[in-house]
Amino acid sequence: MKAVILVGGEGTRLRPLSCDVPKPMMPIANKPFIEYIINQLKKYSIKDIIFSTCYLPEHIENYFGDGSDIGISITYITEEQPLGTAGAVKNVEEYLKETFLVFNGDILTDLNLDEIIEYHLSKKSKATIALTAVEDPTIYGLVELSKDNTISSFLEKPSWDQVTSNLINAGTYVLEPDVLNYIPKGKNYSFERGLFPALLEQKEPMFGFISDSYWLDIGTPAKYILAHHDILEGKIDFRFEGKEIKPGVWIGKNTEVDSTVKLASPSLIGSNCRIESNVKIAGLTAIGNNCSIKKGSHLEGCVILDDCKIEENAIIENSILGKGVFVGKKVYIGEGAVIGGNCAIEEGNHLSRGIKIWPSTRIEKDKIRF
Ligand code: GDD
Ligand code: MG
Repeated sequence: MKAVILVGGEGTRLRPLSCDVPKPMMPIANKPFIEYIINQLKKYSIKDIIFSTCYLPEHIENYFGDGSDIGISITYITEEQPLGTAGAVKNVEEYLKETFLVFNGDILTDLNLDEIIEYHLSKKSKATIALTAVEDPTIYGLVELSKDNTISSFLEKPSWDQVTSNLINAGTYVLEPDVLNYIPKGKNYSFERGLFPALLEQKEPMFGFISDSYWLDIGTPAKYILAHHDILEGKIDFRFEGKEIKPGVWIGKNTEVDSTVKLASPSLIGSNCRIESNVKIAGLTAIGNNCSIKKGSHLEGCVILDDCKIEENAIIENSILGKGVFVGKKVYIGEGAVIGGNCAIEEGNHLSRGIKIWPSTRIEKDKIRF
């Protein structure tokens, strides 16, 4: 069976992290996020994958190539203009002659694919949508079911007064090729506002597959941090790079950690890092490769991407540092701050309350006390 992965979105809600990296390539525990999706597909023997790309496609193609290194076959189809989620699948119609899968490229889930495929076939469904229950359906696609789990309505991003269920579109579909006939060619058209409502109107059999698997859309900074916390806490099975030096603490190759460092579980440090004396790494911290953390700094609950340099006595809490960030002495970064790649935050700055700093910005000494 073939799988189409939608990876063309601009990831606007994940800016500034997605300014120079497409969302599916954002590292999760030091590996590009879609590698996790690919491994899930391999687990179910699905090895024929079509990446539908648009925004920064070369990042994905340069990393995975034709997939032969990892035992799969990847076809890349790039849109010049975004075609929308369904338009993107129409665009690869020539590859889809049998029942196929579609994945949103930003969902961390361990959904059982055998079960949803079997369910789809047994119901003779034309379109089967994985569903998950959430507290706030207004930021997703709301789905209502009839008694036999036939979908009776689909409403994308409903307002609170339209919320009649807690089940939402989990972003995985099993589809029959003939539903593609309802999608206009070469136009921007979505599953959510276009195809699904059209299939309902045409009374085509559409079913919801309710799942209680782990599920998270990683598309905002807060959820991106949460994905790391959940992975570190073992809420979803994940193969970490590196060695587990004590329960829940993984360290990559060639990383030096001074003997005075307090390293709490669960945490992850990449390869080629230097962690100096009296650094405190509290739990739920993920540090990338080639990072250095100097004396007395304190990290907790944060995600630090590759090539970051943190000077002495800095504090970083529940925040994200993009790739190649410099953090000066006694800097405080906390409360969900997001620092874009290659920024330099010089000595004494205090960044908090979800502040977002765009890539390559330099903040001079003692400028921000926020
Ligand atoms: N190729 C291509 N072209 N891909 C696209 C395009 C496009 O024009 N637009 C979006 N995508 C990709 C994104 O890269 C992402 O992987 C996926 O389609 C979904 O887009 P998002 O922008 O992340 O949508 P969302 O999170 O607001 O809502 C969607 O996901 C929810 C679950 O997280 C909808 O499918 C909702 O119904 C659903 O509940
Ligand atoms: Mg999304």
